[in-house]
Amino acid sequence: MTAATSPPHLTTDPETTERLRRCVLRAVAAAHELVRELRLTEPELHALVRFLTEVGTADEFMLLSDVTHTSILVDTLGQAADAGGATSSNVEGPLYRPGSPVLDTPAVLDHAEQGDDALLLSGRVVEAGTGTPVAGAILDIWQTNQRGLYENQDAAQPEHNLRGRVRCDAEGRYEVRTVVPGPYRIATSGGPVFALLTSLGRHDTRPAHIHVKASAQDHEALTTQLFIAGDPWLEDDVIGAVKPELVITPRPTELPGVVAPRRAFAAGFNIALRPVAGG
Ligand SMILES: [Fe+2]
Repeated sequence: MTAATSPPHLTTDPETTERLRRCVLRAVAAAHELVRELRLTEPELHALVRFLTEVGTADEFMLLSDVTHTSILVDTLGQAADAGGATSSNVEGPLYRPGSPVLDTPAVLDHAEQGDDALLLSGRVVEAGTGTPVAGAILDIWQTNQRGLYENQDAAQPEHNLRGRVRCDAEGRYEVRTVVPGPYRIATSGGPVFALLTSLGRHDTRPAHIHVKASAQDHEALTTQLFIAGDPWLEDDVIGAVKPELVITPRPTELPGVVAPRRAFAAGFNIALRPVAGG
């Protein structure tokens, strides 16, 4: 068979083909090892195939990757061993929406007062290693409200609520007025991954977090998540993605327009970006 007859979805790039070949051979070897070690029976093999078919039909393979902590393992190994003081990365998750509004700092992300506690998040974007401020860095932020709902999961929130691309000032500073996010469940569809977690006696809850994609000219982009100190799920994230260095500590404060029973908090977090090699 010649390359010209290859199906269009198969690569013919020699480097990619070699990588694919290596990955497949290793994956098959690992599968064979498991079959030998666990003495997998034929009915068990059929049950496994049925389960994986259900996962594919329900489009839950990424969810399966997350709950088996495979996604965070890929993320952690993908971050260069010599990160050079750069802020730790984290998984993007499925709820990023490109094209949210661009806002100059200080920015307001909370456009729907839902009784949530207010949060003033501020800090600086600097260059890893030198600490030089990164002027005009963009922080693309998205998060849930305090009940753990993203705006596109909640009819009560306006379009792009708790989302925004915040432009830092000339000193790399940013300040964002938002709300304290809440923990949320990730397998509420009740699909095959939820059934698996239930069978294993596991929950499907993530601790509260704020997603951030940081980008700036001449610097490597960073995708990460900030976690909230004191969250009851911090030690037991269903996707295992909590990194201690990414935990922020909101402290009580006063903010204009926030009256009891709402509370106001302030937290700081600096972001360090690696310069592009040779840049
Ligand atoms: Fe999330």
